[in-house]
Amino acid sequence: MNYEELMLRAITKAEKFKYTAKPNPVVGAIIINDNEIISEGYHEVYGKNHAEINAIEEAQKYLGKKFQSFSELTLICTLEPCSHIGKTGSCADFIVKTGFKNVIIGAIDPNPKVAGNGIKILEANKVSVKSGLCKDLIEKQNRFFFYKHKTNKPYITIKIASSLDGKSHYNDERVFITSESSRNDVQKIRANYDAILTGGNTLRNDNPIMNARVNFSVNQAKKILLTNNSYNKESDFFKNASVDVFKINDLNEIIDSYKDSDICSILIEAGPKLVNAFLNKGIVDELIVYKSTKKLGEKGVNWFYEDYAIENYGFKLESSYKIDTDLKNTYKK
Ligand SMILES: NC(=O)c1ccc[n+]([C@@H]2O[C@H](COP(=O)([O-])OP(=O)(O)OC[C@H]3O[C@@H](n4cnc5c(N)ncnc54)[C@H](OP(=O)(O)O)[C@@H]3O)[C@@H](O)[C@H]2O)c1
Repeated sequence: MNYEELMLRAITKAEKFKYTAKPNPVVGAIIINDNEIISEGYHEVYGKNHAEINAIEEAQKYLGKKFQSFSELTLICTLEPCSHIGKTGSCADFIVKTGFKNVIIGAIDPNPKVAGNGIKILEANKVSVKSGLCKDLIEKQNRFFFYKHKTNKPYITIKIASSLDGKSHYNDERVFITSESSRNDVQKIRANYDAILTGGNTLRNDNPIMNARVNFSVNQAKKILLTNNSYNKESDFFKNASVDVFKINDLNEIIDSYKDSDICSILIEAGPKLVNAFLNKGIVDELIVYKSTKKLGEKGVNWFYEDYAIENYGFKLESSYKIDTDLKNTYKK
């Protein structure tokens, strides 16, 4: 296997941990001796060992058996080894201490705490480093993480369910607009995000849980509630969840408060008032619309004030496909 094939293998196998590593990026590391794979490691769980450490610890079992010194080996890792002492210590220092002389890196870590400093530590200690292999794929794999560090703001997606006649809900009764299959699809979308945000009316009217009800392990998203009114602190939304409550109306200020946190993505699930308020700010990156064949009629509350409002907000249709009888449309800027 050449370096590219090994990098692709690390990328593919790292993907398995995307729901338990988040909000951290997924990372894979492979240690080789000439053409033989000695060990592999992955960042499996947020707050636990980074991929390089897992790979090195595994390789240590074969020291004196498959190889005599770590200086004979090459470490291939999808993301630049970290330089900061975070939850687990600096990986770059550990790699140097272990004795590696050759490291192949996929993408440079965009986190300003690292951003090339991991490579500097390696090179300052006479480790040969090559970077950029499969970089685009790794950036795509960790799109929220790269977006956050490049723009200094989390990636923001709004998800809405709309009736055929463009309505969101009835004011006086609860109604399901979309099919069960679409609602199951929403569970998988929630599993991807680091935080889920809603407003006071939705909390009071719908009593939503808003966690990802999926049949695989997932780090549940932080929840964010925007309200200036009273609400029931015992409601399902607060159960087994970490919730940030904002009593301020400035949406930019609220989003800005996450720029130094590890929240890289926010999914907004709210009604027309809050959704339009966010769209008006121009800070939304993606809009997912589940459009049903059901009509709510005169009594239904409109999502938007005019036709083509989504396009008027500057969004273009990116993909569209059917889920059961509904249409799932994804728009991006
Ligand atoms: N079809 C769907 O996909 C969908 C999804 C979610 C909700 N809904 C429906 O939407 C209805 C509620 O819609 P909604 O838009 O009135 O309520 P919302 O989603 O709760 O959003 C509006 C509320 O957010 C809070 N807020 C804080 N800052 C704000 C700001 N800058 N601008 C606007 N709101 C701000 C306020 O809460 P306080 O009043 O507490 O201060 C405000 O009443 C619910 O009954 C629910 O059934 C539909």
